[in-house]
Amino acid sequence: IGAEVKVTDTGQLELIDDEGKEHKLKKTNERSIRAMHPTSVKGVDDMIRLGDLNEAGLLRNLLVRHKEGIIYTYTGSILVAVNPYQLLPIYTIEHVHMYTDRRLGELQPHVFAIADSCFFNMRRHRKNQCCVISGESGAGKTESTKLMLQFLAAVSGQRSWIEQQVLEANPILEAFGNAKTIRNDNSSRFGKYIDINFNKGGAIEGARIEQYLLEKSRVCRQAPEERNYHIFYYMLMGMSAEKKKILSLGSAAEYKYLTMGNCTSCEGRDDVKEYAHFESALKILTFTENDFWEISKLLAAILHLGNVDFEATIVNNLEGCDVLASTHFKMASELLEVDPKALGKCLTQRSFQTARESVTKSLTSAQAVDGRDAFVKAIYGRLFIWVVDKINSAIYRPPEGENDVRQSIGLLDIFGFENFSKNSFEQLCINYANEQLQQFFVKHVFKLEQEEYARENIVWKHIDYQDNQRTLDVLASKPMNLLALIDEESNFPQGTDATLLHKINGVHKKSGIYIPPKNNYETQFGIQHFAGQVFYDSQGFLEKNRDTLSSDLIQLVEKSTSKLLKQQPAADSKKRMPTLSGQFRQSLDSLMKTLTACQPYFIRCIKPNDFKKPMLFDRELCMRQLRYSGMMETIRIRKAGYPVRYTFDEFLTRYRVLLKTSLCDPQTVKRCCESICENVLTGEGDWKTGKTKIFLKDFHDTMLEIERMKELNVKALLIQKVLRGYKYRREFLRKRSAAVVIQKHWRGHKGRKLYRLGFARLQAQVRSRQLHFQYKKKRQAALVLQTHVRGYVARKEWKRKRKAVILLQAHTRGILARKALEKMKRDVSSPSLKAVVVLFQMYLSAKERQEEQRLMLEKQRRLEEVLSQKREMEAKAQSESITDQEMVDDMFDFLTFMPNTVGGQEGQAPVGYEVWEYIDEIPMEDDLPKEDYDDLDEYSFNKFASMYFQGAATPTYIRQRLRQPLLYHEDEDDVLASLTVWWIILRFMGDLPEPKKHAQVGRPSTQERFMPQELISRKDRRLSNMVGLDQVKASLGISVLVLYILTEVSKPTTLQTVKEDPEVLTGELDTLDRPLSSLEKLHYIVGYAIVRPDLRLKKSEITWLSCWYRFLSFC
Ligand SMILES: Nc1ncnc2c1ncn2[C@@H]1O[C@H](COP(=O)(O)OP(=O)(O)O)[C@@H](O)[C@H]1O
Ligand SMILES: [Mg+2]
Repeated sequence: IGAEVKVTDTGQLELIDDEGKEHKLKKTNERSIRAMHPTSVKGVDDMIRLGDLNEAGLLRNLLVRHKEGIIYTYTGSILVAVNPYQLLPIYTIEHVHMYTDRRLGELQPHVFAIADSCFFNMRRHRKNQCCVISGESGAGKTESTKLMLQFLAAVSGQRSWIEQQVLEANPILEAFGNAKTIRNDNSSRFGKYIDINFNKGGAIEGARIEQYLLEKSRVCRQAPEERNYHIFYYMLMGMSAEKKKILSLGSAAEYKYLTMGNCTSCEGRDDVKEYAHFESALKILTFTENDFWEISKLLAAILHLGNVDFEATIVNNLEGCDVLASTHFKMASELLEVDPKALGKCLTQRSFQTARESVTKSLTSAQAVDGRDAFVKAIYGRLFIWVVDKINSAIYRPPEGENDVRQSIGLLDIFGFENFSKNSFEQLCINYANEQLQQFFVKHVFKLEQEEYARENIVWKHIDYQDNQRTLDVLASKPMNLLALIDEESNFPQGTDATLLHKINGVHKKSGIYIPPKNNYETQFGIQHFAGQVFYDSQGFLEKNRDTLSSDLIQLVEKSTSKLLKQQPAADSKKRMPTLSGQFRQSLDSLMKTLTACQPYFIRCIKPNDFKKPMLFDRELCMRQLRYSGMMETIRIRKAGYPVRYTFDEFLTRYRVLLKTSLCDPQTVKRCCESICENVLTGEGDWKTGKTKIFLKDFHDTMLEIERMKELNVKALLIQKVLRGYKYRREFLRKRSAAVVIQKHWRGHKGRKLYRLGFARLQAQVRSRQLHFQYKKKRQAALVLQTHVRGYVARKEWKRKRKAVILLQAHTRGILARKALEKMKRDVSSPSLKAVVVLFQMYLSAKERQEEQRLMLEKQRRLEEVLSQKREMEAKAQSESITDQEMVDDMFDFLTFMPNTVGGQEGQAPVGYEVWEYIDEIPMEDDLPKEDYDDLDEYSFNKFASMYFQGAATPTYIRQRLRQPLLYHEDEDDVLASLTVWWIILRFMGDLPEPKKHAQVGRPSTQERFMPQELISRKDRRLSNMVGLDQVKASLGISVLVLYILTEVSKPTTLQTVKEDPEVLTGELDTLDRPLSSLEKLHYIVGYAIVRPDLRLKKSEITWLSCWYRFLSFC
């Protein structure tokens, strides 16, 4: 025990120990106290670091920590958990996160750290893990298992349904398999192994629960202050009144099976709430309403059976019994769905099968009670197995094919080693299981380890440890072992507990492990277990081991209509059932096999006191538990040993990232491993390399893992950096190129839009300027024409007026002269003068006559002139056409003088025709598109002629009338018109003489001679129109003519009537065959041009050049 030393006033030493007791220290005892190692003063997380490696040191470490409320302590990778008996705030979700993915030893010891380590190692080594949680009843095994399960569910997945199902399996199992005992309010009365399956990604995929050795006797009997299984109390408290009525159930106090321990309630447990939880858990685990009802019925039947009483009778001098009629018995048979009479018979009689016949024997009432209890236990036991199977069917999915790789973590929560004042057969089984687990622990921690050190040539001082192999040999391994003998005796129908004991004595008396009874009457025998001696009472061993129902009851069950009852495996009576110990050993062997294949973890739960009290540390109790668990040896071997070992290849594969080739030049794998350890574990040098493996301490592994993690993080960051850079750059480039494409198209679109707009404006500008320029030119030309014409007209008018004035003057002067002459004549009649006058008259008469004659001529001419002027004046009043005619005559006068020059168009153009030359100089022409130039260059008149002229016609000018028009015309009228036009042009140009004034009647005209007959008739009619017009024109002038033509042409009906006018028809040929004035000819030419648009231009030749050529084709 640890203590604090004080010096009293008297100089005496006084000790205050850990329990607060004061001890006066005598001088003689002074030597027996030793100074505490500094590590023991405040305690350590890992007991391997304890300086005081003795039991007191260990105990004090736990005590000090317990006082501070720290319940977990490591011994290497083994967790020691002291039950706090109070809720500690260390299981929150924050703690789950805190312990996730951390190495063991990095943080304070915790059950979560072990769970995380299991999970991490499972994924790291791809090896199944298991965790053996051991300890006495009430030490906290079940709680630790639940915490591990919760942690694994939290870290493995995303709160999936299967995780929920796995977690919810617990309340159901606890309802059926847990009960209140004096040591634990929620004591598991069965062992369980939960194998949690994980998929490759580490998510929970399912689980499988294995149950071991349910304490069935509890259904019928409970020790004082203990209860039956929770489910009965849950049901009676939580079930609805209606249902209870159907099952005819009352309160717990009414049932014998529930009142044996005189305790029907449990402090701190709310049965109503638990029942609701149990019900919802059943639903989660896919139990149907019907399943639930069947379960309730069986449970109720058990309770009713418990209340069935037997009445002793004597029939034929033989002791017997009868069932006392009661509602309980009736209800029981109803709920079990069996015939009440048959049930009664089965409970009070037993039939035996002899060689010849079947014999029935009445049972005493005590035997009947035993038989009934056995029946009830069998029902409950099989109900429990059925429930576990049902849970497994919901949460376990067998692997699908070979590709379904799974890893698992197994959690073993099994009853601890126990030693009561009276230990039964079940206790022997339980303690045997603990021996097995201890052996597993010893093997793992000591045996295999030390063997391996030897194999690998590691310098090693052998550590002694307590090996329980011999106990196991006696119990179950060697031939004729204890359990085998029990089995053998159970199979003998004559075998009794006494014969069994006798046989065991004979075989094992001298083993040293088996302690025989002191005398022949004693039924108790002892076994030297690894945790101490335990005495077992052999009474009832065989009965319990046989674990069989009477054949009558089995047959009864077979006849039952209750599905659940029939479904139970025990109903199969033909096969011989293995004994209880046989079954147990079988399942334990398979469990040990599973555990051996796993990497194990150990949690040692320690109960600090028997009173379920917090902060109370019973040193004795704890010391005993520490001793059982072999903790001392464990610490020693863990301290000296190397619990972590890798082959060199494995080590290098895992920690290659820590190899620094720049610091050393390792040639072999071993050298590489050593180099890594030298670099990482500097100053922590206690690691070893063997022949094939490297040996490390737990904390070395932790250090290496942490370093590896750091290094990997750096590398992962680098990879992430590069990959992210690559990813984002690629994305950026893609986006940029996409942006460029969009920009390109957008800009193109915008540019085109602007261009179209701009170009249109530009075109409009250019065209407007061109038109403006043309208009200006034309206006100027028109002005020139106007001025010339007006000048000409004015001059002519002036001349006429002048002439008239002169005429008037002349007349006036003549009158005056004649008057003067008359006067003179009168004067001369005087004689003096008569001679002078005569002389003068003579002189004058000759001159006068001459003058008179001239004057007469002049007068005559003047008169004509005046007359014509007068006519002119009259005509002018209506129209100026005569003036126009003169103007045209004047203008085209030159034609008569230069007939030869017209054909070649050589020489200077006549006045007024220069305009055409200006057109060529329209400045804006330059802006026309290039292809137009090309066209123009090539578009010569020669080319035009060769393209469009009909027959052999050439562009050369001929002075003959044409037989057919130069250009092709669809309309026959156009053909005639063009020929006529040509004829008139020839005449206009002076190339053909004008016809004689009176053409001969009846002789066809020149024109007609050239034309087909029917054309002529058509032409006649058509031309008659023109001729008619011409006649009108003569009096109305050109503008009226044009107007007339236009109106006529635009009105085809009017044209028709004109055509058919016989008056107009006559003499039309005369009209054209007579001499025409230049203006008339021009009128015809222009008239035709107006009336016959086809002569002018074609749609395909809309350029002014083609118009010009077309015009040229006429000239
Ligand atoms: N870690 C813990 N924190 C708080 N109380 C605990 C803890 N472990 C155990 N207990 C208490 O101890 C009781 C017994 O624990 P349990 O796990 O049922 O023991 P075992 O299964 O070993 O018999 C629980 O009902 C609970 O009250
Ligand atoms: Mg338990």
